[in-house]
Amino acid sequence: MKLGIFTDSHYCNVERDKTRFHALSLQKIEEAMTAFRDAGVDAVLCLGDIIDIGKPKGREKEYLRQISDLIKSFALPFYFIPGNHDYGALRGEEFCKEFGTPDLPYFVDFPDVRLILLDAGYRKDGRRFDVAGNEWTDSNLPPFELRFLEKALAVDKKCVVCLHENVDTFLFNRHYLVKQHAEVRKILRRSGNVSLVLQGHYHKGADHTYTGIRFLSVAGMVEGKENRYCVMDI
Ligand SMILES: [Fe+2]
Repeated sequence: MKLGIFTDSHYCNVERDKTRFHALSLQKIEEAMTAFRDAGVDAVLCLGDIIDIGKPKGREKEYLRQISDLIKSFALPFYFIPGNHDYGALRGEEFCKEFGTPDLPYFVDFPDVRLILLDAGYRKDGRRFDVAGNEWTDSNLPPFELRFLEKALAVDKKCVVCLHENVDTFLFNRHYLVKQHAEVRKILRRSGNVSLVLQGHYHKGADHTYTGIRFLSVAGMVEGKENRYCVMDI
């Protein structure tokens, strides 16, 4: 299958914050969606942090609506994982309602591939970031999601695991890692049918393959004036 992927657009009205060009992201998403349509993708995946809090705060629903209207205008299947900044801006349910996507975690079956979407936007005490507040250095996959992952992997099909935060142990900065990263990798290895993990959150991007699994952190769209997205044959 062919997948169009973008992440960390952080769209809001802020023109520039250091290396981040938030307000440009709407146009960048339109460019990405156009490229995805032209490439004939089967689905589009956003790995989180699609919006951010603008200045002044309070227009976050408007940002989400603008993006959602744009994405819907392309009529491509769209899947979404809220990032920590999304949870800092709005409730998780608001994203699901706007995009018409299920509650996390969930999986989507394509003829040859199962996409498994996980949500590591939880504090260690089990409260989700939209309730407890966004804390990017304390992301966790609660026990129910680890059990969900194990069950979702028990299928005779290639599986791609997707999440906003990272489980790649070779990431330079450990803060970007889900606390249960070692356990997740163990589950992936044991299943034997995961060759790709798609992650966002780490804006620089990273790409490491080990124990037969590629851990790809897609670069953040908000960084710089140039665009960042990718089309992958999976
Ligand atoms: Fe981000």
